[in-house]
Order: sequence, then structure tokens, then C-alpha cells
Amino acid sequence: ESYDMGGHDTYMHKEISEQAEAVDRVLRGRIDDRFSTVHLGGLNLDAREARGVRRIKILGCGTSYHAGMIGAQMIEEIARIPADAEPASEFRYRDPVVDPDTLYVAVSQSGETYDVLAAVQELKRKGARVLGVVNVVGSAIARETDGGLYVHAGPEVCVVSTKCFTNTVVAFALLALHLGRIRDLSVADGKRIIEGLRRLPSQIDEILRDEERIAELAASYAQAKSMMFIGRVRGYPVAREASLKLKEVSYIHAEAYPASELKHGPLALIEPAMPTVAIVPDDDLLEKNRAAMEEIKARAGRILAVGHREHPKADHSIVVPKNETELDPILLGIPLQLLAYHTALSLGRDIDKPRNLAKSVTVE
Ligand code: G6P
Repeated sequence: ESYDMGGHDTYMHKEISEQAEAVDRVLRGRIDDRFSTVHLGGLNLDAREARGVRRIKILGCGTSYHAGMIGAQMIEEIARIPADAEPASEFRYRDPVVDPDTLYVAVSQSGETYDVLAAVQELKRKGARVLGVVNVVGSAIARETDGGLYVHAGPEVCVVSTKCFTNTVVAFALLALHLGRIRDLSVADGKRIIEGLRRLPSQIDEILRDEERIAELAASYAQAKSMMFIGRVRGYPVAREASLKLKEVSYIHAEAYPASELKHGPLALIEPAMPTVAIVPDDDLLEKNRAAMEEIKARAGRILAVGHREHPKADHSIVVPKNETELDPILLGIPLQLLAYHTALSLGRDIDKPRNLAKSVTVE
């Protein structure tokens, strides 16, 4: 590979470690303190058009799809526009109803994923407006979309995506703020979100300083044959992405469920040999999440909680810094990248090139 490893043993470790500067880059030059909003010059969507958007549909694959799930929640919470994310391949094969009042957003690190590109082309053929949230400048998806915003994560070499995932989610926060301030988000809330965004780089560094402890935890969970990841609302896509990351690099089977769905089936799997990673932020769902942890403890399940405080009900806790509630998913995912990385390391896996996977899938 042509990119310097910069003293790291793997690209994955290098890329996880670069996230504070990467987030700084996606924010740079875009914040407008005077009007408590952000400038996204490449969107090609004027205020009148933005006000006319009735729904937002986000399309992507793999990790980019998960970033889109968080993005959809941010758009709903911050801009109050109904939004959802769907795997691009599912969307294009189900003969979707393409609605002229819906804004479509294609998400891709490489900008070359065939399923996403084909979805964009089909949408354009049907007259839809499609934006891109893309990392690689000038890539096929960046060229085919009507406008968009670059994620500016910098080159990502490891097959599994880490820093680009984080930057993509931050890019969606910018899009949500931009749309929100054109619509009903107040100046005060705009300011609050901007201040939250500015805190991210130093908070990311604070999480990364905890690496040694996360590595010890990873070693103690690495013998599991299977792991459960749970979260509610903002925590659920974080659980989905953390479970994907663990599967991809460590080959440990992992399931992700909304915590509220545990009692409707997956609770049957809980036993001492099936540890659970619970995403438990300090938000309005804290009590509900505590109750889910109690259910798991009652079945002798081991719990690693990731949240904003130590959780006495869990066997171990990873504490991340609190940000504005809408932005919390950005930080909650970062220690779980390290958990996946150190689990794979302790199992001796080929971290940068997991078996059977490619960085970019440019064929059907
Ligand atoms: C491949 C990679 C995944 C990635 C997905 C989408 O499957 O292995 O890590 O998330 O493609 O890639 P993109 O470049 O479109 O984000």
C-alpha cells in the first residue's frame, strides 16, 4: 500500500487513531456562528427547495448504511423531517415508489459501490433529486449525484471502515443542522448543536486515551462464540455497527437488536456464554435500558455497558464523554471500534484484510 502506516501496526489502528483530526476536517470552514448554521456549498439545494422536502430517504451499504441510519435519526430530531435509511440493494430490487417530494441521499466511502451507484442511476432516471454523502472526491457516486457533501475523512485503507463512519455521521449532523436552520430549528438550538460539534475532537481523544483498558476488556470477551449488541433508538444503529465491526474483523458471531425487542425472542439466547454489549446513554431511555440489563442479569448473562456513567448492573462499563443528546451516537461507537480491533488482535486475525471481504464492491 502506498500510504504510510505512521508507526501503527495496522491501518485499522491508524485510522481509529486519526478520528479527532478527521472530524476537525469535516467541520472546517463550514460553521457559520453568525447565523448558528453551517454552509454546505455543494448541496445545490436552495432554501426554497429545502423547505419543500417532505421526506428524506438515505441509501447505502454495510457501514455506510449504518451511518445513514444514524443520519436519518439526526435529520428527524434536528430538522424534524421524516427520514429513514435502507440498504441500497434492497431499495433498488423492490421496485420502490419514487416520490418527487422526497430527497434521496446516497452514502458511500468509496463512491464506487455498485449497488449504491445503480440505485442512484435508477432514481435519476425517475426524476428524483439525489444527494451524495461521499468520502472519495470525484468518485462515480459523487459525479452522478445532483450535489452533496464530502466527508473529508482522508484515505481509508483498512477494509473495515472506522474513521469514515464517524466522519459520515458528523456530515449527517451538519446536513441535519443546515436543513433544521432553514426550517424550524431555533438559533439557540443551532448554537447548542454547533458547540456540541466543536467539542467532538477533544472528546474523541479522551475516548482513545482509554485504549489500554478497552484492550483488556477485549481480551476477556474474545473467547465468546457469539455476542449480543443492544441499544434503543439512538443506541440501536450504534449497536448494529458495533456488531458488524466485531463480525468483520474478529469473525465472532454477533447479533444486534433493539433492546425493546429482547423480550420478543432473543432473550432465549442469553446465558453465561453469550455476553451482551449494551449501549446505555444518559438519555430519556436510561431507565428502560437499565430494565433490559436487569433482564439479562436475571439470565446470568454477562454485560459490557457503553454509556455516560458506570453501570453497577453491568459487569464492566466503558464511559464516554456526554455531548448534546442528538450527537451522542457519534462518540458511543468509538470505543466499540477499539473493542473489535483488540478482539481481532488477540485472536490473531488479518485485521486490515478480513477473509472474504473487499474494501469496495464495484460489481453486482
Ligand atoms: C464493502 C466494505 C464495507 C463497506 C461497504 C460499503 O462491503 O467491506 O466495509 O461498508 O462495502 O462501501 P462504501 O464504499 O460504499 O461505503
